[in-house]
Amino acid sequence: MDLYLTGKTALVTGASKGIGRSIAKELAKEGVKVFITGRNQQALDSLLSEIVEEGNPTPVVFTQDLLKPDAPQKIATAALAALGHIDILINNAGQSQPVEATGPEEPWTKSMALDFERPRLLTQALLPHFISRKQGAILNLTSTYELRSLNVSAVAKAAVAMWSKQLAGELGKDGIRVNCLQPGLIDTENIRRYFPGDERRKYAESEIPLQDFGEVQDMANLAVFLVSPRAKYITGTVSVVDGGARRSAF
Ligand SMILES: NC(=O)c1ccc[n+]([C@@H]2O[C@H](COP(=O)([O-])OP(=O)(O)OC[C@H]3O[C@@H](n4cnc5c(N)ncnc54)[C@H](OP(=O)(O)O)[C@@H]3O)[C@@H](O)[C@H]2O)c1
Repeated sequence: MDLYLTGKTALVTGASKGIGRSIAKELAKEGVKVFITGRNQQALDSLLSEIVEEGNPTPVVFTQDLLKPDAPQKIATAALAALGHIDILINNAGQSQPVEATGPEEPWTKSMALDFERPRLLTQALLPHFISRKQGAILNLTSTYELRSLNVSAVAKAAVAMWSKQLAGELGKDGIRVNCLQPGLIDTENIRRYFPGDERRKYAESEIPLQDFGEVQDMANLAVFLVSPRAKYITGTVSVVDGGARRSAF
């Protein structure tokens, strides 16, 4: 299926590894020029090489710690300068942050900033651009709603889901779509460290109907569809890629 993405541009945060890297690569395969950002310059450069070797549009690499207060504005300005215009924004950067119920404040502040405030501010920095062009596809990576222990990232992502829904309501009239993509357990560095040895197999067999963690490609497949013109009537949604792990039907 032609996704009608050829010639479009996209900004992908957290593109150096994991899900973001896979989404950036898949977008490039569809002919999208991607602006890839993260902290790890070497990893971003290697992604650039892989994309170019496959004969796809040369990406723009921008190294930036998203936790720096001025990062959203810096990224937005650099992306607009490099790409000329932006069709697609993927807010993917984030990190699981388990905490103790009576633990210190610092991980809360840091994780709420990385997983909610920074993507919100980056989006806001680009909204005048999207509104003036009467188009834009925004995809926000979220997280499970079903944890039975504290994880700040998942709290922040719940805020992302609500904010995304509200934005979708406001911006539909401006031709802008806003959706969320919710992973279950996808095999990345972010998650792997919590399931050492045989833990992954044991957990998957008891908790995941499809019996294993997902692959980053499983996320990228749906991501490129959701930001493509093929998904022109889809906004305000949370799409789940979790092998059936979610227990609730709604
Ligand atoms: N994998 C899962 O099963 C799962 C489950 C729930 C939610 N998620 C969400 O899905 C998204 C992708 O996760 P993943 O599993 O692919 O994680 P990952 O493999 O650890 O990759 C995380 C990405 O975020 C970037 N990042 C982290 N901190 C950053 C910072 N301070 N500044 C700039 N970039 C930063 C990293 O880039 P650098 O290291 O280069 O900075 C990296 O590219 C995240 O939002 C995560 O919360 C994933």
